[in-house]
Amino acid sequence: MPVALITGASSGLGRALAAALGRRGWALVLDARTPQPLYQFADELAALTVVKAIAGDVSMPDHRRDLAQAVRAAGGLDLLINNASTLGPTPLPSLAELALASFHEILQVNLLAPLGLIQQLLPQLADDAAVVNVSSDAAVASYPGWGGYGAAKAALDHLTATLGQENPAQRWYAVDPGDMRTPMHQAAFPGEDISDRPDPATVVPALLNLLERRPPSGRYRAADFEPTSTTDARGSAGAGADARGSAGAGADADADESYALRKTSR
Ligand SMILES: NC(=O)c1ccc[n+]([C@@H]2O[C@H](COP(=O)([O-])OP(=O)(O)OC[C@H]3O[C@@H](n4cnc5c(N)ncnc54)[C@H](OP(=O)(O)O)[C@@H]3O)[C@@H](O)[C@H]2O)c1
Repeated sequence: MPVALITGASSGLGRALAAALGRRGWALVLDARTPQPLYQFADELAALTVVKAIAGDVSMPDHRRDLAQAVRAAGGLDLLINNASTLGPTPLPSLAELALASFHEILQVNLLAPLGLIQQLLPQLADDAAVVNVSSDAAVASYPGWGGYGAAKAALDHLTATLGQENPAQRWYAVDPGDMRTPMHQAAFPGEDISDRPDPATVVPALLNLLERRPPSGRYRAADFEPTSTTDARGSAGAGADARGSAGAGADADADESYALRKTSR
């Protein structure tokens, strides 16, 4: 049974990915800071697969050690998704007004924590494992107010590229998922109607497609991996039916059970 660790798995993209991988028989190690929604979600997923949920903050070394211990108990790691992230203070301040303590916190969560987790987990990564560091278009484009978050994501992209050079056995991806209708996105646009943004579950098929196709390590946009062809939708790479419903374990169950991220290890 392949094993995936997903950080920030109680909401948004992390939750949608966990639900999709759980349905495909992946064993899951999940985290988020707030215990109740995380453990409730893990209870739902337990009907589908083996789940270990550990509430904690990815910026805390002890918590990262606990996650690594859970991975060890699961027998190793085939997929790491560094998804947990913070915008920092909202409404998003200009760089002139961004307190350095806040920028430090952004860097802790969005940059140092993913690297810390990778350092802990490298010895347990399968030779054909993939690491997805969830990025943003703010890593490559500049927007007023997004300087702290964007700089952290740009640096995360750079770490990802370097890790790809240093560890050629695995695939290392920085992935921009695109805009999604989530609490983080709402926090970035307080008081605005974000109902036109896509549900995070609609991004999952593209990410699964990317993982299935295994392009070279690098930075990618999820939008470039949307399953479009018949092959994508039904063959080795497709997961099109994920693109609907909510992100819950049951509610977004897809019809395309022929899809499986092929794994031979474990
Ligand atoms: N939404 C968008 O439009 C958008 C666009 C581009 C990129 N992204 C990226 O996509 C990823 C997912 O974002 P999302 O919009 O799906 O977020 P979301 O719905 O707000 O969910 C964030 C998840 O991360 C957890 N989390 C936050 N801080 C954490 C910490 N320090 N330690 C552990 N868990 C933590 C949250 O739970 P707790 O609060 O309980 O910890 C929650 O489970 C992020 O990397 C984000 O930068 C999002």
